[in-house]
Amino acid sequence: MSYYEIMGGRPLSGTLAIHGAKNSVLPILAACLLVPGQCIIHNCPDLSDVSATLDILRLLGCRAEREEDTVTIDASALSRSDIPQHLMREMRSSVIFLGALLARLGTAELSYPGGCELGPRPIDLHMAALRSLGAEILEEQGTLCCRRCRGGLQGREICLSIPSVGATENAMLTACGCSGVTTIVGAAREPEITDLQGFLQAIGAQVTGAGTSVVTIQGGGPFHPAEYRVMGDRIAAATYLCGTAAAKGEVEVTGVAPDTLTAVLSCLKEAGCAVHTAPDRISLICAGPLGGISPVRTAPYPGFPTDAQAILMAALAGGEGATLFVENIFDARYRHVDELRRMGADIQLAGRAAMVSGVGRLHGASLRSTDLRGGAALVVAALGAEGTTQVWELCHIRRGYQSLDKNLRALGADIRQIP
Ligand code: UD1
Repeated sequence: MSYYEIMGGRPLSGTLAIHGAKNSVLPILAACLLVPGQCIIHNCPDLSDVSATLDILRLLGCRAEREEDTVTIDASALSRSDIPQHLMREMRSSVIFLGALLARLGTAELSYPGGCELGPRPIDLHMAALRSLGAEILEEQGTLCCRRCRGGLQGREICLSIPSVGATENAMLTACGCSGVTTIVGAAREPEITDLQGFLQAIGAQVTGAGTSVVTIQGGGPFHPAEYRVMGDRIAAATYLCGTAAAKGEVEVTGVAPDTLTAVLSCLKEAGCAVHTAPDRISLICAGPLGGISPVRTAPYPGFPTDAQAILMAALAGGEGATLFVENIFDARYRHVDELRRMGADIQLAGRAAMVSGVGRLHGASLRSTDLRGGAALVVAALGAEGTTQVWELCHIRRGYQSLDKNLRALGADIRQIP
C-alpha cells in the first residue's frame, strides 16, 4: 500500500493550474448519454472517480477515450441501461446515471448506492423528483428498476425540500427527456450546476436558471454533439490555498473563478492571509500564524462548502486562536478529527459542532485518510507540521485530486509518495 511522506514546515511558493472540477465532470459525463453522437470534454481531470465513470459509460456501450485532459464520449451505440453493483459501489454519485438513462432510453437499472464514508446519504429526493416526472421506480433487493410510465416522461413543477446537488442534477437530466416544461423549485445553486447547464445548453437543451433556486428545462431534444470545457475545481483550489496558509508562503492558483470560493476566501482573510483575486486566479500570501475566526457553518452554496470544512480546520488547528465549526450538511464529516488529534490538535466535538483551539504548531504522525476531503485535510495539516507525517489510504485522495503530491512538490513542499 502506498502512502505520502511529508516533511512539514517548508513554505510554498509559485503558481499552479487547477484541474477541472470533479463534481462538474461526473454529471457532464453522464449527460453525454443524451447525445446520439460524439461529445468532447476538455479540462477533464484524471481522477479515480472519473475513471469509474468512464468504465460505466463503456459498459453501457459508449466509446470513451482520454487523451491528456480531453475525453471523447460517443454514446451513439448506447446498448444497455443496467449498471452492475461493483461499479455502483465504487462511486456513490453514479446515481446520476439514473436521470441520464431514463431521459435517453426510458429505462435504467442500478443497484442502490447505499451509505458512504460521510454517513447515510439518502436518495429519496432523487426518487421523488423522478417519480413526479413520470418514472416508475421499483426497489427490489437493493436494485432500483426505473422506467418511464406508459404516458411517457412529462415535465412539471418539482419542489425540493433540501437544495440537494445530486437531486437537482438528476432532475435536470431526466427533464431533458420529458415532453413539456419542468421547473425545479428549491434547486441547489452550486456552480457545478451552472456548469452542467452550460453543457446541456451546448448539446441543444433549453435550460435556464442554474445558479438560482429555480431551474427551468424545456425537454424533448433533439440533442447534438458538442465540445465543452469543464470549470476549475474550487475545492481543489481551496485545498492548495489552505495548504499555503498552513505551510506559509505565497501561492497563486489559476483556472478557477474566485467568486465560486467567496466563503472560503473570506475565512482565510479573517485568519490573517492576504488574498488577491483576478477573474480566473487567486493568490494568497501567509506570513504569520493563523488567527481564530468567526464560526464556520457549512451551508448550501453560496454558504461555506462542506467539502472545504476539513481542509480549513486542518490549517486552523495549527494556528493560534479558537474557531467553532458547525457541520450542517453531512452527519459523519468529522472523521478527520481523530487523525488531526494524533498530530497534537486540540479539537472538542459535540454533535454537529467542533471547537478548534489552535496549538501553534502540529507535529508529524502516521495517519489514515478517512474520506476524500478528510484525507486532503491531513496533507494540509502535515505541510505546516513539525517533523514527518505519513498519510495512508491514498485511494480516497485519488478520487478527487490529480497529482496532489507532484503539484505540492512543484510549489516547494517536501512530499513523496512511497513506494
Ligand atoms: C454533492 C457533492 C459533494 C458535496 C455535496 C454538498 C457531487 C458528486 N458531490 O453531493 O461533494 O459534499 O454535494 O455540497 O457533486 N439529501 C437527502 N435526500 C436526498 C439527497 C440528499 O436527504 O435524496 C441530503 C443529504 O443527506 C445531505 C444534503 O441533502 O444532508 C445535501 O446533499 P446533496 O447536495 O445531495 O449532496 P450530493 O449531491 O450527494
